[in-house]
Amino acid sequence: MERQGTSPLLSVRALSHRFDYQLFEDLSFSLGKGESMAVIGKSGSGKSTLLHICSTLLPPRKGEVELFGRKVYSLPQRELLLIRRFHVGIVFQSHYLFKGFTAMENIEVAAIMAEREIDRRLLERFGILHVLDKKVSELSGGEQQRVSIARVLSKRPKIIFADEPTGNLDGQTAQEVMEVIFDYVRREAAALFLVTHDEELARSCKRLYRLEERRLIPLQ
Ligand SMILES: Nc1ncnc2c1ncn2[C@@H]1O[C@H](COP(=O)(O)OP(=O)(O)OP(=O)(O)O)[C@@H](O)[C@H]1O
Ligand SMILES: [Mg+2]
Repeated sequence: MERQGTSPLLSVRALSHRFDYQLFEDLSFSLGKGESMAVIGKSGSGKSTLLHICSTLLPPRKGEVELFGRKVYSLPQRELLLIRRFHVGIVFQSHYLFKGFTAMENIEVAAIMAEREIDRRLLERFGILHVLDKKVSELSGGEQQRVSIARVLSKRPKIIFADEPTGNLDGQTAQEVMEVIFDYVRREAAALFLVTHDEELARSCKRLYRLEERRLIPLQ
């Protein structure tokens, strides 16, 4: 069962992965309650791949990923799906909203699946109340991005994996959206794993790494 107390939410050991070339080798780190870490690095360095591996989506070539004290890639598929559904929030680099549905319907689906109530204050803070009844295809890129983040937080995950969550947003809106995410992490004692090209944004995380030459180099 899940371990309580001070054990990390995410713990990664000796992680290596390659596709056409070696992306990273022997990475180890952990992320505890209320903590945040950011990974920056050149395009193609493997940031999204690392995020997918840590967030239950892709088994690594080598190494181990533990979420909430459980080795995720040793679990039966059914249990892995339950962890993903109830406890893990993933904001994808290209967000996947259901295009034919409204913004609200998209959020509702996520909340229902995770058996959570929707927090309207959260939607208000993302500045999306006025677009809730619009079809996703009628929203601007930045509105879609905010809806997709609201949808992930509406699941009330224990850990959030966010891949370029503010890529489509202007500076001011990006900052506001990140404040909501950081607030959530503090309030719920959740954790945040952030991938971004925005170094200033990355510096708002407790820890910051650059993925370079197959290693995670600590910058703060
Ligand atoms: N499923 C896959 N199959 C084969 N190669 C892949 C796959 N996913 C990623 N790659 C390759 O792995 C490398 C790293 O990709 P990744 O998406 O992790 O980079 P990234 O650091 O997130 O880049 P960006 O900053 O552009 O988002 C790229 O060369 C990519 O083409
Ligand atoms: Mg990427």
